[in-house]
Parts: sequence; structure tokens; C-alpha cells
Amino acid sequence: MEQITRSEYQEGDSFEKAIRPTNFDEYIGQADVKENIKVFVKAATMRETSLDHVLLYGPPGLGKTTLSHIIANELGVNIKTASGPTIEKSGDLAAILSTLEPYDVLFIDEIHRIPKYIEEILYSAMEDFKLDIIVGNDGQSRNIKIDLPPFTLVGATTRAGDLSSPLRDRFGITCKLNYYTTEELSEIVKRSAKVFNIEINDDAAEIIARRSRKTPRIANRLLKRVSDFALVQGEGIITKEITNDSLERLHVDDFGLDSTDIEYLESLIHKFNGGPVGIESIAASIGEEQTTIEDVIEPFLLQEGFIKRTIRGRTVTEKTYDYLKKRKETEL
Ligand SMILES: Nc1ncnc2c1ncn2[C@@H]1O[C@H](COP(=O)(O)OP(=O)(O)O)[C@@H](O)[C@H]1O
Ligand SMILES: [Mg+2]
Repeated sequence: MEQITRSEYQEGDSFEKAIRPTNFDEYIGQADVKENIKVFVKAATMRETSLDHVLLYGPPGLGKTTLSHIIANELGVNIKTASGPTIEKSGDLAAILSTLEPYDVLFIDEIHRIPKYIEEILYSAMEDFKLDIIVGNDGQSRNIKIDLPPFTLVGATTRAGDLSSPLRDRFGITCKLNYYTTEELSEIVKRSAKVFNIEINDDAAEIIARRSRKTPRIANRLLKRVSDFALVQGEGIITKEITNDSLERLHVDDFGLDSTDIEYLESLIHKFNGGPVGIESIAASIGEEQTTIEDVIEPFLLQEGFIKRTIRGRTVTEKTYDYLKKRKETEL
């Protein structure tokens, strides 16, 4: 329950799939990214070529997987999906690539986590649509070359910086997804409510939007929980009162910070005197991976002005002191 505001995908989020927008019109916000991709999709369709490979990056929950499905849908092609860490052998990649039909989309999530030797096979697949792999073991290995149909690789990652430059250079289109505004999130919440036949007032949608860590995934998750309260304790309609009450019970505060954010900030203050402190020390202190800290926790805290990054390390700001003090007073 405590992790309701964690932005990563959690197993069992079947709700999430059901409300996933399927075309550009339903995909709210990210105006620049959307407009550009629309043009590229249209151009590829007019030229009857495959769309250039697309790299989508940004923190979890901002719509990378959703956008990749929309791209395939708008191109009118199939999408095959894979995830970086699950492609272990060259055969795994060959198996996926060999199912591709002309102009299909191959979506590789967490593309920064594919093994190096798989990455090298991808180079020629991406550049020349040729698969060049070695099969068999030492004594009897042989080289096989297979022609692939033209296809579009859509890669998603929380860290573009971790991609090797040869791989990064093979993406013709690179898009960074940004955090959403309250207005956009309100719209997303209202759209999701509609899909599920849930009645919600405008002011209630806005409260959920404000407390969602600027992330659609979290907004949708909060909507789901609040609708449970509305159903059981109210009259089914999500009002401002029910929303405030449920979010308080769920311990979701004004900014939608989650328990890991709080732990991060408190550790900075109590163990490191507010900083500056290096990432390694913070990681050790709160028991989170450095990459999680850099990709999931810090981008939001930086954007909202809770922390600053200097050459000597991270420091908290006045806003953090005020916020934690207020939090203590209201005993969230
Ligand atoms: N622009 C958007 N408009 C409407 N809903 C969105 C948008 N972006 C994300 N969502 C919703 O948020 C959820 C998480 O999005 P997802 O694409 O899985 O994020 P990511 O792959 O970046 O972690 C999805 O269920 C989707 O319904
Ligand atoms: Mg995803």
C-alpha cells in the first residue's frame, strides 16, 4: 500500500493496460514529441518505407510503452515486444527478429540492459536489415546471415546515457518524455474515469492530478484506489471530499512524494547534514541502487526544487526543510 506512488510498473497493474491510449488523439500532453512523431509516421507511410528507429527515454510511468504501441497502431503494423534483460542469447534475438513482417515495430523495453554482444548483432539488423549471427558451439559453429524485412526498432529506456554511442547513433529519432502538468494529468484522470464508467468531479480530478508526482501511471493508480473508496463509502461518485479523505488514508501527501523520496530527503538531512553528498553514499544509506536513485527518484526531486546537484554532490533546499517540517506537523 505504501508504494502506491512508486512510478515503476508493478505486476498486477492490469488496469493499466485497459486504459492505455491507442492513438495520438488519446495520448495527452507531450505535445512536441507527439507532433514530431506524427509527421515522421506520416512521411514514412507516404514514402512506403519503414519509420526510422525511435529511442524514447525518460523516467518510469510517463508513457514510453504506450507511445510505442501507438506508433505501431498509427503505422498500421504489428508490434513485437521484448525487454533488454530477457534477451540473453543471440538466438533469443534471432527468434524475435525472424517473426517480423515488413514495416513492423519491434519494441525493446529497457534497451540499456541488453548484453553487449546482443547489441552488436542489433547494429547490422538496424542498419542494413541483416541478421548476422554465429550458431552452434565451438567445434561446429557457423555463421548465418539472414535478410530481414524493413522494420522499426522502438527502444525505451530510463537512461539514454547508458546506451553505447554506436547504438544511440543508429536511432534516427530520439525523444525525451517529460513530466506532465496538472492540467494534462487532470485530463488523463478524467479520460481513464470515463473508460471505466466512473463518475468524477472536476475538482476531484485536479486533486488527484496534483498528487501524482507528475506521472500518469501514478494518477491512474490513485484514481483506481479513490474510486474504491467512493464505491464502498460514498455513492459511487468521486467528489472532492472523498478524494481528500482517501488520499489521506493512503498517506499520499500534497506533492505525491513516495516513501522512498521521503527516505532520500531525510537521509540527506539527518545523515549528511543536508549535503553536499555523493550518490554512492546516499545509495548505501538508503539501500537503493544508484541507477534507481538517478533515474527514478532524483529527476522529480530536482525538477520540483527539493534538491540541487552541484559538483560536490547533492544538497537539499529550503523547500525540503519546510516540506518535511510541515509533514511532521500534520503527521502524515
Ligand atoms: N500521454 C498519456 N496520455 C494518457 N495516458 C497516459 C499517457 N502516458 C501514459 N499514460 C498512462 O500511464 C500508464 C503508464 O504508461 P507507460 O506507457 O506504461 O509508461 P512507461 O512505459 O514510460 O513506464 C499507462 O497505463 C497509460 O495509460
Ligand atoms: Mg514501460
